[in-house]
Amino acid sequence: MPEPAPVLIVGGGGREHAIAESLRRSPEAGAIYITRRNAACARFALPAPAANYSETAAFCREKKIQLAVVGPEAPLAEGAADILRAEGIAVFGPSQKAAKIESSKIHAKQLMEETGIKTPRYSRCENAEDVARWCAKNNPPFVVKADGLAAGKGVFVCEKKEGAQKAAAKIFSGEFGARLLLMEEYCGGEEASFIAIAEGESAQPLPSSRDYKRLREGGEGPNTGGMGAISPSPSWNDALSETAMNKIIRPALSALAKAGSPFCGFLYAGIVINNGELSVLEFNCRLGDPEAQAILPRLNGDIFPALFCAARGELNKCELPKAQKPSACVVLASEGYPESPVAGDEITFSKPWTEKGEPSGDDNDIFCFHAGTKLRDDGKTVTDGGRVMSVVALAEKAEAAREKAYRAAEGVSFRGMQFRRDIGE
Ligand code: GLY
Repeated sequence: MPEPAPVLIVGGGGREHAIAESLRRSPEAGAIYITRRNAACARFALPAPAANYSETAAFCREKKIQLAVVGPEAPLAEGAADILRAEGIAVFGPSQKAAKIESSKIHAKQLMEETGIKTPRYSRCENAEDVARWCAKNNPPFVVKADGLAAGKGVFVCEKKEGAQKAAAKIFSGEFGARLLLMEEYCGGEEASFIAIAEGESAQPLPSSRDYKRLREGGEGPNTGGMGAISPSPSWNDALSETAMNKIIRPALSALAKAGSPFCGFLYAGIVINNGELSVLEFNCRLGDPEAQAILPRLNGDIFPALFCAARGELNKCELPKAQKPSACVVLASEGYPESPVAGDEITFSKPWTEKGEPSGDDNDIFCFHAGTKLRDDGKTVTDGGRVMSVVALAEKAEAAREKAYRAAEGVSFRGMQFRRDIGE
């Protein structure tokens, strides 16, 4: 058997902690290096630099990293995967050009139009006059989307024309980066996240999931990066997976390959289901967060071979493990999230967690994935970001998974802790 392969993970949120936990269980993975060590990752993963990716590439060569997994969208959009790949490192994550499927919503819409992927009607708007023209010709509600990456915050669903114009003005002011937006017709229905592991034109589906983007119960409050997730998505089934693979994932991969930007990584389609028809609201170039925390613990086996094969252009030689029991994931967020999260509050754990926030061992189906946490010099775990951690549970039935996740969340406490009480309802 070959030596276990040292692995680098770029990122340090809940998604990357979930990836790291999956990889550390693999007999094929060796030392795990991670570019941001939250309090949990600091206990098992080694530090890696990420101030610039050339330095990260040199570090990978020095440590003989055999697989680099880039988790978040920002480094992918900045070209981290290209820089590492150019140094001969096997990277699981798309190139900057392929990542444009997420980093420009207008680019994604054009790709969908060209390939016949069903998506709500839209118009590209450069200024207030373009927005006014759309509003005059269409009926609300409208969806206003900033063109660039905005950490889930640049999307507004507006019941009235005036609200849409205000949202557009915010985007044109540069608050969300790009001063370009798209106006989209609102498309109601059940939303689902459908993610596939992809390499060139090969792809394999992960289990479906659903995330909860608004801060408060009932879909109220501001948009966030995601306050919880369940997997599978309630009305998803194998036939929908087949349709999503054939009508969405494969056509998108084929278009990207033809355009000279073949995709390697997790391709995420944010889908709305309407009378059995699937329509794509967005593509992301990575695993969702917190969808990853709900999906990865469900996989009954090792994900290292599939990531490693994909990174070497051989995904068709490996298979993703199958999913087992349903899961529920509840995100615990800090006071002030999403506008102005407060950091530095001590986090305490009680049953079913150890005082370090690890499962106490009585139940193998609970997980605590850290995101905005850090280990203070005195060894205490403190908050260090908006979404602090995700508590995840698996059970035979979705309802039992949900109840177990909420019971497990009661074992975590910090000042100002916010969470939604309706995940999976
Ligand atoms: N949970 C939504 C996302 O990761 O974009």
